[in-house]
Amino acid sequence: MAPKRNKLRKTIFEAGKAVGKGANKAGQIVRDTASDRGLENRLPSGVADKLLPPRPLEEVQAELDALVGLDSVKEQVATQIAFLQVQERRREHGLDDINTSRHLVFMGNPGTGKTTVARLLAEMYGSIGLLEKGHLVEVDRAGLVGKYVGHTASKTNKVVKRALGGVLFIDEAYALSPPGIQTNDFGAEAIETLLKRMEDHRDRLVVVVAGYPKLMEQFLHSNPGLRSRFAREIVFPDYSTDELIKITEKIAQDYDFHLSDDAEKALNRIFKQVVRNDAFGNARFARNLFEQALNKQAVRLSQGDVGALDKHAVTEITGDDLKAAAAQVEVPISAETRRLRRI
Ligand SMILES: Nc1ncnc2c1ncn2[C@@H]1O[C@H](COP(=O)(O)OP(=O)(O)OP(=O)(O)O)[C@@H](O)[C@H]1O
Ligand SMILES: [Mg+2]
Repeated sequence: MAPKRNKLRKTIFEAGKAVGKGANKAGQIVRDTASDRGLENRLPSGVADKLLPPRPLEEVQAELDALVGLDSVKEQVATQIAFLQVQERRREHGLDDINTSRHLVFMGNPGTGKTTVARLLAEMYGSIGLLEKGHLVEVDRAGLVGKYVGHTASKTNKVVKRALGGVLFIDEAYALSPPGIQTNDFGAEAIETLLKRMEDHRDRLVVVVAGYPKLMEQFLHSNPGLRSRFAREIVFPDYSTDELIKITEKIAQDYDFHLSDDAEKALNRIFKQVVRNDAFGNARFARNLFEQALNKQAVRLSQGDVGALDKHAVTEITGDDLKAAAAQVEVPISAETRRLRRI
């Protein structure tokens, strides 16, 4: 009887493990898809942060290394990780904890990779055990600030609770402290609540505030003591034309496409000609351009015999597809950003 019961138990255990693995895989796919489409905030927290065990540090590091350019960002992230690992080791030896803030400031224009790097950084903190889960919760002002007295603190606290064990990424953080005298603005209350929670949960919460360099400077000056809470300010430079071409190639590869011989020349022209003001979408522009080029490719191919298309044809994006796409891709700019820029 006993061996049979053991066998049954083992079978149930194995089945449970298989289901768990399947769920993790499914969770990974859902997360990847949501993140590609910028919808990760809409995932239920069970999918967003609970299903996956941390990946090994080397694997996450390799993903960071594979990003095009960003040399200074990669170096600073590596330094921060090394620094925290050594501090942790010191702590294990019973040595004094020197003040090691884990919070960061990311300064960079749109589409320079801030969210992508924050997600990888969160995972890295998870991999080395500095955070329990290593997930990323991304919010902006609307996610933190309420509409009436008392609403803001409870809203901010809820977000903090969701982010515990991971990274809270606050995009366009300066929107919490618009310059000038404000009446009926609860942004300051959100900042106060955040600062308090950052202290209360110093071992379980990492905050990354992000946004345009100039406005981030104003934000860090807006509240005494704000700047000193952050360990590092990491600058995300705009991408060069060559980097944008490489990013487009990478995006194409990720989707199982390839660029034709004349595509690089077309990309070179497009990226050189586009207006590079601070609303320019950098890698996001490259992604939008590529996605628009897919439509152009489909229209081009549908003019012939679709049934006769070979694999090469359906995976190829040409210079003309990209040129036609460029005419339609515009630089998106949020209403909040427009408002802040006018002030
Ligand atoms: N260095 C890079 N190499 C490859 N792809 C990149 C790189 N940087 C960004 N991307 C891609 O470009 C897109 C935009 O990047 P991301 O969302 O990280 O930028 P962001 O700085 O957070 O932008 P925003 O300020 O608009 O939120 C993503 O699809 C990302 O995968
Ligand atoms: Mg972002």
